[in-house]
Amino acid sequence: MTAAGESAVPNLLSPENLLEPWALYRDLRESDPVHWSEALQSWIITRHEDVAACFRDPRLSADRTQLFVMHQLGEGGMELVKDYVRVTAQAMNMRDGAEHARPRRQANQAFTSQALDNWRPTIARIVDSLLDRVQAQGRMDLAVDLAEPMSSLVMTELFGIPASDRERFLKWAADIVTFFGASAGDVRASAIAANEATANITRYLSEVLQSRRQAPGSDLLSMMLHFHEEGRMSEEEMVANAVVIFNAGQVSTIDQLSNGVYELLTHPEQFQRLLENPALVKPAVEEMLRYVPATPFIHRIVAEDFELRGRKLRRGQLVFLGMAAANRDPAVFSSPDSFDVSREPNKHMTFAFGAHLCIGAGLARRELEAALQALLRRMPGLRLDPERPARPRCTSLVLRGFESMPVRWD
Ligand code: HEM
Repeated sequence: MTAAGESAVPNLLSPENLLEPWALYRDLRESDPVHWSEALQSWIITRHEDVAACFRDPRLSADRTQLFVMHQLGEGGMELVKDYVRVTAQAMNMRDGAEHARPRRQANQAFTSQALDNWRPTIARIVDSLLDRVQAQGRMDLAVDLAEPMSSLVMTELFGIPASDRERFLKWAADIVTFFGASAGDVRASAIAANEATANITRYLSEVLQSRRQAPGSDLLSMMLHFHEEGRMSEEEMVANAVVIFNAGQVSTIDQLSNGVYELLTHPEQFQRLLENPALVKPAVEEMLRYVPATPFIHRIVAEDFELRGRKLRRGQLVFLGMAAANRDPAVFSSPDSFDVSREPNKHMTFAFGAHLCIGAGLARRELEAALQALLRRMPGLRLDPERPARPRCTSLVLRGFESMPVRWD
């Protein structure tokens, strides 16, 4: 590979490389760990040590909405995404320093271990009710019948919203994160869809917040309203953070469950180990997160020029931090390309690192554990359906999951 790397490096967004990126990540990690992609006009960082350092480096900013939109759509693109920009820029994941820490501290209160443990029975009930619907038929689509409704029903319960509205929320979330993820498809179309979805979800949640003012409950929206009324969160921040929590809470957990179960079913000896020793569920969930992250990369903007491994990163450039590549770095993981449900320690980066470490990591872990436990208990003969192949979905560097995953059991 050349120093600049580009001539020898295939297109990161080609369908083959999006679906099977592991050899490409290995090449980048070994030969060009701080890679400039001409095609993406972005830096690609792939070593564990560098990804961790970048997550903590204040010269890389999370405040990326406007520059990201310009990068994706060029001058004039802002007109297409006015609502998206207005709302997204107020959310905690797009802020730095004290402006991030304040809303994050408030929202953390809903995600303490104690609060999340109180959710375990609800999560288990949701999982069981979904499996009750399909148990007798001996087959289901794991992505559509379990992963999607599980994550979106957990979020509607957390927000105290009618379950009957969950499909609207799912569509809005998908439209927003597709644009956020720098999708490989028609960028203008995905921008317009994200803008419309942002306007719709914002309107819906603002109306619910209005009604919670009269009748507060114990849900997350009532909690955020409380912070707002105490002056700790502006009205716009409250709505924007509700939107980001709702969206992030659904999309990645859906993809992560499908990604992880697919690996278990294509490594039957590991599935058998879990059946024989259900105490391995916790490390198995960590290994699913490490091996096939729902979020392979996340982006940042260079706020101040700096050098990394001799490459000059310039103010305003887009940087993709590669959690999936870091998760297979042999400097940190022994036999990184082996899927091992008992792997310990497991310092994967799937939930990011530093100030923006995923606020929902504890909730996602509890959901993944509950789903896996129920599948092992109720469907020990689970296998991929040989007649209907699974359809993976990966159209951006930031999101990776399954459109469909037909499975069977006896
Ligand atoms: C397996 C499932 C999940 C994965 C892989 C995942 C991944 C991530 C990653 C990589 C980040 C860092 C983003 C950045 O640095 O810019 C993040 C942040 C975030 N996640 Fe998750 N997430 C998951 C589940 C959830 C859930 C269930 C929720 C909410 C209930 C959630 C809410 C958030 C929020 C609000 C942030 C922003 C935190 C901040 O900026 O301080 N996520 N997540």
